[in-house]
Amino acid sequence: MKIFITGGAGYIGTHTCVELLQKGYDLVVYDNFSNSSAEAIRRVESITGKTLTLIIGDIRDEDTMMAAMEGCDAVIHLAGLKAVGESVEKPLDYYDNNVHGTLCLLRAMKINNIKTLVFSSSATVYGNPIELPFTERHPLQPTNPYGQTKLVVEEILRDLYRSDNSWKIIILRYFNPVGAHPSGLIGENPQGIPNNLMPYIAQVAIGRREFLNVFGNDYPTHDGTGVRDYIHIVDLAQGHIKALEALELPQCTPINLGTGQGYSVLDIVKAFSNASRKEVPYIIAPRRPGDIAEFYADPSFAQEFIQWSASKSLEDMCRDTWNFQFKNPDGYRL
Ligand code: NAD
Ligand code: UFG
Repeated sequence: MKIFITGGAGYIGTHTCVELLQKGYDLVVYDNFSNSSAEAIRRVESITGKTLTLIIGDIRDEDTMMAAMEGCDAVIHLAGLKAVGESVEKPLDYYDNNVHGTLCLLRAMKINNIKTLVFSSSATVYGNPIELPFTERHPLQPTNPYGQTKLVVEEILRDLYRSDNSWKIIILRYFNPVGAHPSGLIGENPQGIPNNLMPYIAQVAIGRREFLNVFGNDYPTHDGTGVRDYIHIVDLAQGHIKALEALELPQCTPINLGTGQGYSVLDIVKAFSNASRKEVPYIIAPRRPGDIAEFYADPSFAQEFIQWSASKSLEDMCRDTWNFQFKNPDGYRL
């Protein structure tokens, strides 16, 4: 089976490519390298000892994409912009890349008669929790343009499926992906100052940043700091394969990929210090605007529907993040 992966050179994409190659799938990665590089793909090939086809292109370039996906059987769609804060500053870029780009992809798929799709949505589509854990039936009320683009795409996919139920679509709602491949060859490689907690902590531990700003310690959580459902990137990547393999079920289905377990910012700091044997100095800073106190998944639907559940611990997540950071202090730069 040949899979077309948009955004396959990125953080989630590279880990997903490794798992797919190891299971014997043929791959075509389509990426414009706006947040990645060919080095990431070289490392995927070195981990697996296998090769894939890499095509550099933008998902909004329909003609190039249409030619690139010829002969593929299914698509995993990961290409997109993902920074919440930036989406507030540049909403048009986000709608253009994430929504218009997906429309181009769907049209190209239709013309190539490829009707199997796994889409990377996000827990951010739920917005402020009405009740926890988030089940897939929780109301959808994203609080920022990035989340809105994910919701709009989900709605497009539901309409597409209603119009033609020979499409096989699975919508994966990721919680907070962290960690790296145990080889230490691939991992998250943020450009500039990391937005997200785990890569920030890793850069503090390696000495690239002086201290962590803990955004608020007055939330109604067990220690006052924000609680999230962190999921190891390898578990998440394997979720894509389970989703693909479950696609015999012709439904347009949203599925949470999370562990069901919430950890606070200070829980993560402590676990990371233990894993790296490094101090992670921090200060308590004001709350980050738009942050939610606490959220975590109900992962039971994934277990039931695609026979997937996360198996890696917080310790694994911190150890593998540190291993990647330690071996690549400046990211993929050679
Ligand atoms: P990433 O930035 O590492 O990977 C995205 C990849 O897509 C990059 O390689 C980038 O170069 C490519 N890309 C972006 N725009 C493109 C375009 N127009 N055409 C072709 N390629 C393009 O991000 P990631 O963390 O791997 O996320 C992958 C997907 O998962 C995204 O859609 C993101 O919104 C979603 N997601 C991520 C998280 C997270 O915390 N990492 C959480 C929920 C959902
Ligand atoms: N945090 C800090 N200091 C930092 C960074 C984060 O205290 O320097 C805190 C945040 O306030 C929050 C927690 O760490 O309480 C997690 O923050 P992240 O930025 O790592 O993750 P978010 O939950 O805010 O958002 C991430 C992605 C979103 C995605 C969401 C769910 O950035 O795109 O997970 O998948 F939608």
